[in-house]
Amino acid sequence: MTSTITTIDGVRRTVAAAKAEGRRVALVPTMGALHDGHLALVARAREVADLVVVSVFVNPLQFGPKEDFARYPRDLDADLALLDAAGADVLFAPDAAELLPEGRTSTRVVAGPVGGTLEGRIRPGHFDGVLTIVLKLLNAVGPDTAVFGQKDAQQVFLVAQMIRDLDVPVALDVVATVREADGLARSSRNAYLAPGERVLARAVPAALDAAESSADQDVDAMVAAAQGALAGEDGADLEYLAVVDPATFRPVDDGYRGRALVLVAARVGGTRLIDNRFVHLG
Ligand code: PAF
Repeated sequence: MTSTITTIDGVRRTVAAAKAEGRRVALVPTMGALHDGHLALVARAREVADLVVVSVFVNPLQFGPKEDFARYPRDLDADLALLDAAGADVLFAPDAAELLPEGRTSTRVVAGPVGGTLEGRIRPGHFDGVLTIVLKLLNAVGPDTAVFGQKDAQQVFLVAQMIRDLDVPVALDVVATVREADGLARSSRNAYLAPGERVLARAVPAALDAAESSADQDVDAMVAAAQGALAGEDGADLEYLAVVDPATFRPVDDGYRGRALVLVAARVGGTRLIDNRFVHLG
């Protein structure tokens, strides 16, 4: 049975009691509207820990003024039912007054140069808001392990960087992206897609398929192939397509050989979709 805790004090006491018994604790931070992708994170957390805490908090700090904070899907009862079935122990669901009593924090985590690229270029301040709330959640819960999804690859890179830079005592576990049958990455924002847009959205993983198929050529050829897959689709507008070195998140140059990460963001109707894939270049 998953128990719901809404206060920092309450979750700290539950975690302290578990740790006093030698139990390992994992945190899965989410913004709710849970789907199979989140449940894969919970399943991984179950493997590495004895007490699984899933936080649900729609974080205002990571939304820009014109973004979808107000209409972001929220259904805590449905989330609780899914977590119960998935065997999570605790749903940590603080309200804004608990986690951000002044609506914001005066102190903020700054994501650094990589935080201003790709997603961060399109959504200025997004990653500062993500990292600030992730650090607050880690401080509130104090898990041994935090489990994140590879779907948000840049977020994962920046969380790992923050953990290293600020000596946060937590291990990071990253779980592969869960996909629909046609390859579309599971995302809470897929709920925004109208039926016709849902068909178009297939162009996003198709761009990654095209990139992967051309990875034996050079970077430019790979980018062109991926762009070509999206260019044919009226209504799917490419925002960026980048190939980065996973160790630095800097764009690779044309002579690069080895493991690379292809990242894509596209707008399908009013919905932004992001996805990524590891490829081997050369
Ligand atoms: O990936 C998300 O859902 C959010 O960015 C996170 C990590 C829960 C922080 O609000």
